[in-house]
Amino acid sequence: MTLEHIEQRRIERVTRGMPTEDGAGVKLTRLIGTPEIGDIDPILMLDNFGSDDPNVYIAGFPAHPHRGFETVSYMIAGSLRHKDNKGGEGVITDGGVQWMTAGRGVVHSEMPAQTSGLMFGFQLWLNLPAAEKMREPWYRDIPAAQIPQIDLGAGVTAKLIAGRWNATVGPGPERETAPFIADVALPPQGAVSIPVPGGHAGFAYVFQGKAALGPGGARRELGKGELGVLSAEGGLTTVAGSDGARLLIVAAKPLREPVAKHGPFVMNTQSEIRQAVSDYQRGLF
Ligand code: CO
Repeated sequence: MTLEHIEQRRIERVTRGMPTEDGAGVKLTRLIGTPEIGDIDPILMLDNFGSDDPNVYIAGFPAHPHRGFETVSYMIAGSLRHKDNKGGEGVITDGGVQWMTAGRGVVHSEMPAQTSGLMFGFQLWLNLPAAEKMREPWYRDIPAAQIPQIDLGAGVTAKLIAGRWNATVGPGPERETAPFIADVALPPQGAVSIPVPGGHAGFAYVFQGKAALGPGGARRELGKGELGVLSAEGGLTTVAGSDGARLLIVAAKPLREPVAKHGPFVMNTQSEIRQAVSDYQRGLF
């Protein structure tokens, strides 16, 4: 292998997202799924919620439907209870993940299982290929203890939620989009090359400290609360600032299919959206 074949990803664009509300009035920051960044195929949405004021989160996300994609919730701090009408139920706490494949349709609620203290986490929407949009719904809790923490040396660690990093395989389910989801922590000035799978589209989101990403000469510094969209091929060189850094890295294989979105339904055509609304209104979820 010669040097020119060792490609490295660059940061193509940067967003700080937009403040919004969802559920019964939970305040959050939407980073993907905005007028600025509609999606990063097949990543449809990323929300970051974070507050130590229960008034901001206590109302939660009462019962609502989904069809045609998957939701992945990752709690860094706090507790969230999931319950759906297909028998899926669980509470995730500090460091846990809940993975719900809505498929043909579920009605679920996601409510805080705490009345005080910090709640900080993410919800990601991943698209399903056309052939899987009407599959049976699926749900799994992944407690923190089931998420491998990889020691990468010199104080750098990665929690691998989905995908493969060296010999480690994350607990996320196998999907056609082959998601890679990692929570990477670096000490001050720590460095790592993140093995984002070839051909995957994705992002890096800094939620603590600062990090410079990309190859030398095209390195881009992201501060806390900034999300960088990655270019197409190669690993992602990451160097933390003087306070260290913590990043959420998500990448997945693009579907390159038409996307028709309407609120909690994500299909391929408008007529499938009309069908979803009608099926939900007739109680077929
Ligand atoms: Co939901």
